[in-house]
Amino acid sequence: MLQEQDIMDVLKQIKDPDLKKSIVETDGVRDIRIKDGDNVSLKIALAKTGTGAQMQVQQNIVSVVKEAGASQVGLRFEELSKEETQQHGEPEAQEDDDGSLLSENNPVNFIAVASGKGGVGKSTVTANLAVALAREGKKVGIIDADIYGFSIPDMMGIENRPTVEGDKIHPVERYGVKVISMGFFVEDNAPVIWRGPMLGKMLTNFFNEVTWGDLDYLILDLPPGTGDIALDVHSMLPESDEIIVTTPHATAAFVAARAGAMAIKSNHRVLGVIENMAYYESKSGEKEYVFGQGGGERLSEELKVELLGQIPLGQPTIDDDDFAPSVYEREHPIGKMYENIATHVIERKEGARVKSPFE
Ligand SMILES: Nc1ncnc2c1ncn2[C@@H]1O[C@H](COP(=O)(O)OP(=O)(O)OP(=O)(O)O)[C@@H](O)[C@H]1O
Ligand SMILES: [Mg+2]
Repeated sequence: MLQEQDIMDVLKQIKDPDLKKSIVETDGVRDIRIKDGDNVSLKIALAKTGTGAQMQVQQNIVSVVKEAGASQVGLRFEELSKEETQQHGEPEAQEDDDGSLLSENNPVNFIAVASGKGGVGKSTVTANLAVALAREGKKVGIIDADIYGFSIPDMMGIENRPTVEGDKIHPVERYGVKVISMGFFVEDNAPVIWRGPMLGKMLTNFFNEVTWGDLDYLILDLPPGTGDIALDVHSMLPESDEIIVTTPHATAAFVAARAGAMAIKSNHRVLGVIENMAYYESKSGEKEYVFGQGGGERLSEELKVELLGQIPLGQPTIDDDDFAPSVYEREHPIGKMYENIATHVIERKEGARVKSPFE
């Protein structure tokens, strides 16, 4: 049976990354709860939360507490009060964010992939558009901004984890795409609760603390829907284009129009609409419109933007040696459709740029 003191003992070796003192010494261990003998929940306060260094702390805590005998470790974070932080030494000054992806003169094109409701294929579109852009020779990154419902790592068959060095996070590369996802920082049995403000910080850190290098495109997989979280994420993003994904059903387009309205509200430009699960093509080449018809067209008319593609139902060919359950190969008919969308996006973004006399 684990006792509170056992946990306290192992936590002594965990340092607050900013104060360089043990979290026990800074009174950062706010709460320890042990259920059923080995199910541990902790509340930890750090000088700064929502940083790459916090993610490292998180992983270290989970590993030492599990070594002490816990089967599950739940973590919550908060910030130390100003007084506490001062008492233990000020945290280092924030680095200025020159060279950050968010700085004004960074040439990266942001494309957020949004939808009115869940399960329409945002993550699938994000992964495949990113891979298709990379196949065109572009330098591409993905931020899986769906902090609770992250799915990009699994969809792309990513098994590695990013490496964290001090405050810097090195993204994982797959199919030539650099990927960062909250999924990388959540241990199987360690649910982490992100509150509103922390969520924002986490996302900002995905921009500022990840070593992206030079990027041409950064694709963001947004949380589904038009709820609070999605709105937060939207308004947090820098100037960005958006692609709205819908299914072909007429009411789906109606719901997706709200995502379009949200994009406009956060000053994002809607690049176009992708209708996903548009039809099923039988072996004889006949198209069956299993989920209805016309949703994509209707939405693009309503938003006065292009219909960038109509992707049918279909599975990638599974390659056991190079497993990525949701990425279509280049030669796959759907892979080719994504290639067309990618070249079109490049034309729109870069073609226009070459022509503009002001750039
Ligand atoms: N064109 C398609 N053909 C067949 N299956 C598809 C297609 N597009 C997506 N899927 C499948 O549908 C499911 C939902 O897709 P996906 O996870 O990409 O949607 P999402 O909008 O990101 O969902 P969420 O809102 O939960 O984040 C997944 O299992 C995915 O593999
Ligand atoms: Mg998704």
